[in-house]
Amino acid sequence: MISPATIQQIQNRIDIIDVVGSFVKLKKRGTNYLGLCPFHNEKTPSFTVSPNKEIYKCFGCGKSGNTISFVMEHEKYSYVEALRWLANRYNIEVEETAQSAEVREQQQLADSLYILNQFAQKYFTHTLFDSEEGQTVGLSYLEERGFSKAILEKFQVGYCKETRQAFVTEALAKQYNRELLLKSGLVSLRNEDLVDNYRGRIIFPVHNTTGKVIGFGARIIRKNDKAPKYINTPENEIYVKSRILYGMYFARQVIDKQDECLLVEGYTDVISLHQAGIENVVASGGTSLTTEQIRLVRKYTNNLTIIYDGDSAGIKAALRGLDMALEEGLHVKLVLIPDKEDPDSYVNKVGADTFRNFVAENKKDFVLFQLEVALKDAGNDSQKKAAAVNQIAETLARINKAEDFTRQQDYIRQCASLLKIEEEGLNNLVNKFIRERVSKLEAKWNPADDNLPATDQEQAVPTTDESLQLLLKDELQERAAVRVLIEYGAMDWEDGRKVAPYMLEELDEEMVSNPDLFRVIQVYRNWVQAGIEPNAKNFFYHEDQTLSAIVVSLLAFPYEISTKWKDKFRMAVAAREEVYLQDIKNTIAYLKLRKIKKMIEENQADLLKEHTADEQVTLLQTHQALKQMERDLLKEYGTVIVR
Ligand code: GTP
Ligand code: MN
Repeated sequence: MISPATIQQIQNRIDIIDVVGSFVKLKKRGTNYLGLCPFHNEKTPSFTVSPNKEIYKCFGCGKSGNTISFVMEHEKYSYVEALRWLANRYNIEVEETAQSAEVREQQQLADSLYILNQFAQKYFTHTLFDSEEGQTVGLSYLEERGFSKAILEKFQVGYCKETRQAFVTEALAKQYNRELLLKSGLVSLRNEDLVDNYRGRIIFPVHNTTGKVIGFGARIIRKNDKAPKYINTPENEIYVKSRILYGMYFARQVIDKQDECLLVEGYTDVISLHQAGIENVVASGGTSLTTEQIRLVRKYTNNLTIIYDGDSAGIKAALRGLDMALEEGLHVKLVLIPDKEDPDSYVNKVGADTFRNFVAENKKDFVLFQLEVALKDAGNDSQKKAAAVNQIAETLARINKAEDFTRQQDYIRQCASLLKIEEEGLNNLVNKFIRERVSKLEAKWNPADDNLPATDQEQAVPTTDESLQLLLKDELQERAAVRVLIEYGAMDWEDGRKVAPYMLEELDEEMVSNPDLFRVIQVYRNWVQAGIEPNAKNFFYHEDQTLSAIVVSLLAFPYEISTKWKDKFRMAVAAREEVYLQDIKNTIAYLKLRKIKKMIEENQADLLKEHTADEQVTLLQTHQALKQMERDLLKEYGTVIVR
């Protein structure tokens, strides 16, 4: 964990113009900066950065956030990764907090698993090369398939004897405990007995990127319809399937040097290609790629070439990973191996040179491949063709990284030409998908955004009835109230009091129906009680990114006074900071109005009950008085009460 002091230091040093400016070319425009949005494709800039508020907002695609969320989004980092990146940029030393007991325990368990796995790997490798059963059953099978001793040693391949308890007996003698053995998947429980789990199988150890053994794949030797072909280590503290690419430890430097990663399905494909001198290769186990696996590849290269056999199951799995790979900025190519061969059998059949040439000559761009397949499927069916257009636009919308704009544009051109449609039309469709995705993401915490910015009608003077109508737009008003609290809470108000305590009294659960907004208020209240004078920055850099996102959306630019309004009333509009008094007054007037409205409702409900004549008169007078208060308030603040 990064210590709070370090986080504080990072927050203090952050300069949003400096950070965003290193990815986006920004031009000063008034108090803000403007540039081409890095999150969607545009030709005229609508990406706005406010150095004062330390937030950005794109008016094209709607994305907004603070410096940290920008780094997270742009670089695909987690919150902690983004903090480390910023610390590094500003030469801030990262201080770690002490580990909790729970974390320490997990760490110890992980360490024990590493040690056990290393012991098991050595045991199985020894069995393969040095025991009689290993040599006659395991090694002879592997050699028959063409694997050299050298390559098997490099990958630390092993063999597990048919005997029920050969391994587990050794392990128990070495003091490895039962729970650990079970957790590792090396043994299983049969009627109270621990027995070897990989009996009679070839063992492929799986390494992490530092070369430690994290688990195993165990392949059956004799064909057996009842038993699975492979047994893999179950998920545990160190074996997390979604993060593993088999062979990455042996391939990573070559991938880096050759700037390309080959992806195959199986263990044997990886080992055979290595043996043939093709070493930039990893395997996914035939399932679709996860984001974590894609990020692992991206550490070394942006070029991923998927080499699968022509059978459809593998291709479908690969297709599922494609959109994510595009999103992560990977350039994906596809090669299909012909004649029911897989990379292992094919390289053994044709040799390394022919294999290399085949891959080089048959590499297909994955996006265009997908489109070609869809178009072939569609034939003359215009409905199917329309579906293909939509599908490809959605796929292209995933390319959203700054450096990929020309790439997206290239794709749009090529796809439009394949589809025989207007480039501009496809471009618009792609942008539509980008917008949809963004608004889906934001919808959860940003429900009222559609109502913004304020229209002329909303700014007109409301009559009493209208005002009641407008009060129904509570969501908008609640947002305004919370925004004013955050922006102006520390400013002086009446009778020597500041704005915040006055507003916090009013902003109770009844007044704020949106739970997210109420949470913001509660956090604000807690800070005040802890002696902190909160401001927007405290929220922007709050660890809870939803909270930060809500506040960014509250303070984002749509609230700035519209130029239409300015033109209409031919008035000099003061800078945002100078109109704060009016802003506070509006909000407080709203809070009062809402209270009065509630009192009127309660009074009217009371009137419906049975009363003496005197009581009746009092209630009617109360009603009149409340109505008068409402009118007075509206007269005083009516021009600005709802925006
Ligand atoms: P060989 O048949 O020995 O060449 O192995 P292979 O690696 O080529 O196997 P295959 O092409 O059949 O499958 C590709 C990958 O899918 C394997 O390497 C395994 O990771 C995985 N796989 C295949 N069969 C099974 C199975 O029965 N269970 C599990 N868990 N994974 C399997
Ligand atoms: Mn195979």
